[in-house]
Amino acid sequence: QQDPRIARISSAIRVIPDFPKPGIMFQDITTLLLDTKAFKDTIDLFVERYRDKNISVVAGVEARGFIFGPPIALAIGAKFVPMRKPNKLPGEVISEEYSLEYGTDKMEMHVGAVEAGEHALVIDDLIATGGTLCAAVKLLGKRVGVHVVECACVIELLGLKGRERLGDRPLFVLVNST
Ligand code: PRP
Repeated sequence: QQDPRIARISSAIRVIPDFPKPGIMFQDITTLLLDTKAFKDTIDLFVERYRDKNISVVAGVEARGFIFGPPIALAIGAKFVPMRKPNKLPGEVISEEYSLEYGTDKMEMHVGAVEAGEHALVIDDLIATGGTLCAAVKLLGKRVGVHVVECACVIELLGLKGRERLGDRPLFVLVNST
């Protein structure tokens, strides 16, 4: 039985065809942010799942993980750590390279933001191929020794096998999309 809040969240997400290039159906969460009830329900659903789970870190992936991560972090009493695109963070960073459809990208995090043994939730708006979340999990898990409790997204794009790429690392999503 699906939570009744999910339908409203799903319909508050706008789909814009052919953005940023032909053939891509862009999942636009800015319309979800305009619907105060649906936005609150989104945060509440994550908070209900992750409160009392001993999570000390919410790691948000740039850019839209920065929208959903902080309210969840505040509500569950965890700190918020931004996982950024390269050359954005001013302090000493630890970085992880990952492959895109064409070429590579890098994700960076401040050294000292998280300590080995901490329990983290990784949050982003959407999982497509899973490359971004994999990089975040590697950075926190393999490189720093953080226990990643779960990755969470508002939307899962089915068909790109992102969940498979994450392997046995748990993934929680609110809305599925084709
Ligand atoms: C989108 C999305 C995720 C990522 C998912 O970000 O917000 O972060 O792609 O894709 P993947 O599962 O194939 O790795 P985008 O690359 O558009 O960057 P932005 O958030 O900075 O605009």
